[in-house]
Amino acid sequence: MAKLKIGVFGAGRGIVMVRQILGNPDAELVAVCDKYVPLLERCKKVAEEAGLTGVEYFTDFEDFIQCDMDAVVLANYANEHVPYGIRLLESGRHIMTECLTCATMKEAVELIEAVERTGKTYTYAENYCYTPVRWEMRERYRRGDIGELMYAEGEYVHDCSSIWPGITYGERNHWRNTHYSTFYCTHSIGPILSISGLRPVKVTGYETQNMPYMRNLGYAAPCGAIELITLENGAILKSLHGSIKNNGHSNYQINCSRGAMKDIGDGQLSIYVEGENENCRGKREIYKPAPVVIGSEKSGHGGGDFFTTHYFIQSILGDPVAKERAIDVYTAVDMCIPGILAYKSICNDNNSVKIPNLRNREERDAYRNDTFCSFKEIAGEQYVPNNIQEDVQIPDEVYEEVRRRWIAGEPG
Ligand SMILES: NC(=O)c1ccc[n+]([C@@H]2O[C@H](COP(=O)([O-])OP(=O)(O)OC[C@H]3O[C@@H](n4cnc5c(N)ncnc54)[C@H](O)[C@@H]3O)[C@@H](O)[C@H]2O)c1
Repeated sequence: MAKLKIGVFGAGRGIVMVRQILGNPDAELVAVCDKYVPLLERCKKVAEEAGLTGVEYFTDFEDFIQCDMDAVVLANYANEHVPYGIRLLESGRHIMTECLTCATMKEAVELIEAVERTGKTYTYAENYCYTPVRWEMRERYRRGDIGELMYAEGEYVHDCSSIWPGITYGERNHWRNTHYSTFYCTHSIGPILSISGLRPVKVTGYETQNMPYMRNLGYAAPCGAIELITLENGAILKSLHGSIKNNGHSNYQINCSRGAMKDIGDGQLSIYVEGENENCRGKREIYKPAPVVIGSEKSGHGGGDFFTTHYFIQSILGDPVAKERAIDVYTAVDMCIPGILAYKSICNDNNSVKIPNLRNREERDAYRNDTFCSFKEIAGEQYVPNNIQEDVQIPDEVYEEVRRRWIAGEPG
């Protein structure tokens, strides 16, 4: 059988997918696109070291999309996945997008309808769902080992200040500088939705202050964000994320009617299980779950980076297990829109906001023109600044200094 021909758009984070495709027996890397040539050269080196010399490299998306490809991985800017993704779907390609799913509620509706219209495969690369511990939590929760979910915590606490020059390049309008606090909610919410299979129905958003350690690097928005989310069964999820200081491991835990599970770091799961009529007399255990695919643990993000590309490829090829495990467009939207709506909540004195179920066509119309966000070109008249608590103005010299540090290879 001919190999699946795959292109990668965005060669920064995209190098991870390039490596995964190069190691996959069913797929072939055929093209990479990035306007920043040094990143293309890095991909070329990696591909040639793997013995692949026929890959095409592009700096312009318009040339890239003409290439002979069955599927494309989008690792371009986090707030620009949908317009490029829809063009690719409509040109007959399957797509997998990096995080996040969409930048606005309008885009959420448009993306879902493009996937439905074209019938092509859409997969969301939410890698934090696939570490051996979080996958074991999913398997055991869904098997009913600890009863029904009542409360969950998902954290993605990543203080990015030291790497800020290398990931924003001193660009004032880079999405990492213009996004609002609750935008990047996927790594804290995603794993809990993946484990529980539950849909979010209501959200209240909160944010910390902005701090000089981020403001002096060009980021004016609050450093930390919290979403308090009601899930469809009445359980509450507390999601915490952002560039805040962390004393160790990010927490993922679920508390249920007959027990609890917690990812305690170092690949270990802590579980407490009660039998029927065994209130407070259950058993505790700590163990290291084995990876679902041997060898996957060598990939990044605790082994999660292997599975997104693997399940994308296998679901296009029709494998039913991969289709069930890959994250589809509806769940991808569920993992993302609580962050958009949480910022609406923050802008409205922390009022709670309904999270629509965009699987239902009749719920979509209310959001078709909703471009609320802090990305000026995308929002148009519905633009909101990303620092509503105080009007933080960052002088050009700050970005010039960050750029200097990026070029010099200095940390933030
Ligand atoms: N899941 C994870 O663990 C994880 C980790 C890092 C990044 N990401 C995601 O990966 C994506 C890329 O992030 P990044 O860290 O590489 O930084 P980034 O967003 O700065 O990189 C985007 C890359 O795409 C290129 N690009 C964007 N638009 C283009 C266009 N129109 N034509 C040609 N090239 C274009 C840029 O030159 C850049 O190299 C984002 O969506 C981010 O959220 C995910």
